[in-house]
Amino acid sequence: MKAINRREFVKQGCLACVGSGILSITLSNCSSVYYAKGTVETTGISVLKTEFTYLRKDQTVTRQYILVQNDKLEFPIYLYRFSENEYSALWMKCTHQGSELQASGDHLQCPAHGSEFNNRGIVSQGPAEKNLRSFPVSVLDNKILIDLRS
Ligand code: FES
Repeated sequence: MKAINRREFVKQGCLACVGSGILSITLSNCSSVYYAKGTVETTGISVLKTEFTYLRKDQTVTRQYILVQNDKLEFPIYLYRFSENEYSALWMKCTHQGSELQASGDHLQCPAHGSEFNNRGIVSQGPAEKNLRSFPVSVLDNKILIDLRS
């Protein structure tokens, strides 16, 4: 085994710290994206309102958005919560060349060529020119229904 001097030891330690820092940032970013399995309905897909909430230190925290998935969907649906009864539901397929978008807080980004869309699906940065496909959302008791017929 090769002996290392103090300077090399400190240098390697710093690299390890940087590496673990990057890892923790990556993990925290991953943990902020929450996927909910949607239930197929006759008119579309639904999730419970409770998918938006979780407990942290005995306090209920409300998520800003969730991603709705189901095996029947080719792309996830970004479901953004404006209030308890107002949501937008956006198809996470880029209108430029069809790549799957990534959710980042209140907007969506395309990893392919950098297009961005706001939480209502409006293009905020090209090269995409068309807004995202969006779906009507209705709320019935504790259920959020995304109408996929349009
Ligand atoms: S496919 Fe999304 S910007 Fe090109």
